[in-house]
Amino acid sequence: MQELSSLQAKNAQEAEALRIKYLSKKGEISQLMNDFRSVPADLKKELGMRINELKNFAQEKINTLKESVGETTAAGSSSIDLTRTPYPIALGSRHPITIVKNEIVDIFSRLGFTLAEGPEVEDDWHVYSSLNFADDHPARDMQDTFFVESHPDIILRSHTSSVQSRVMEKTQPPIRILCPGRVYRNEAVSARAHCFFHQIEGLYVDKNVSFTDLKQVLLLFAQELFGPDTKIRLRPSYFPFTEPSAEMDVSCTICGGKGCSMCKGSGWLEILGCGMVDPAVLEANGIDSSIYTGYAFGMGIERITNLKYQVKDLRMFSENDVRFLDEFVSAK
Ligand code: DAH
Repeated sequence: MQELSSLQAKNAQEAEALRIKYLSKKGEISQLMNDFRSVPADLKKELGMRINELKNFAQEKINTLKESVGETTAAGSSSIDLTRTPYPIALGSRHPITIVKNEIVDIFSRLGFTLAEGPEVEDDWHVYSSLNFADDHPARDMQDTFFVESHPDIILRSHTSSVQSRVMEKTQPPIRILCPGRVYRNEAVSARAHCFFHQIEGLYVDKNVSFTDLKQVLLLFAQELFGPDTKIRLRPSYFPFTEPSAEMDVSCTICGGKGCSMCKGSGWLEILGCGMVDPAVLEANGIDSSIYTGYAFGMGIERITNLKYQVKDLRMFSENDVRFLDEFVSAK
């Protein structure tokens, strides 16, 4: 043992020579094993233990020597190969809905809009009544709204317009907010409809806010989102909470307006609803409509994501299929 503990090796060859000297088949310790056969039976146990001890000691000593001269042994536990190529790391991606939401939020925040949030489980007042929906308006119907059983007044919000009311009841103008969030509707799930999806609502209330302001902001938004050549068109429409109301189309993002299968030959794609906040809505939420005016708009994020990335089936957004999500790794 003493002889073994004082062993030295300057390099890998010397360490290997020591291994051969002591531990190889014909080495000194293996030789002892051979001699062991001729030892009387009563000494075998004691001697066997000693030889094993010696062998382990030699093995450890030589491993240490090998490591210290830079050679890694097969059993060398502390050996880390820093030159080895790493395993490829699978990069995650943001969800496409988040990517598009962030892009929209970014555009409007440059125009001074700040974020506001409201609850997904809402009451009838904030989703409908405060927004001028008549008691018998069809949107309240079971067809559309999810009700909380035994609490007919508590519902899952069916649009983010509810946040308009949440903010107006607590804040006096100027108000300039953007409210992204999830909404729920009682629809059968298919490629073209889902029981939950995402919207972004915008609201601006101040003195002298006009329809011209709304139109200019929406034009800038459309050109930032879809490119500087994008055109917009406003068509008269109806929403209970805006008067006048409009729906906005953008020139087709695929054919630029010539007509293709995406825009069904019309050259236009509808992307949002908007209008001037109805004075009755301002009043219902504690804002003096003789002093203030405002505009509002609301859009579906899935719809815009479909236009940007040509996602054909709405269900892809909630299935979390990694092959689908991987498509967005290089997006922002
Ligand atoms: N809340 C409407 C919907 O879910 C979208 C909308 C239309 C929002 C017009 C607005 C608006 O703020 O002015 O279909």
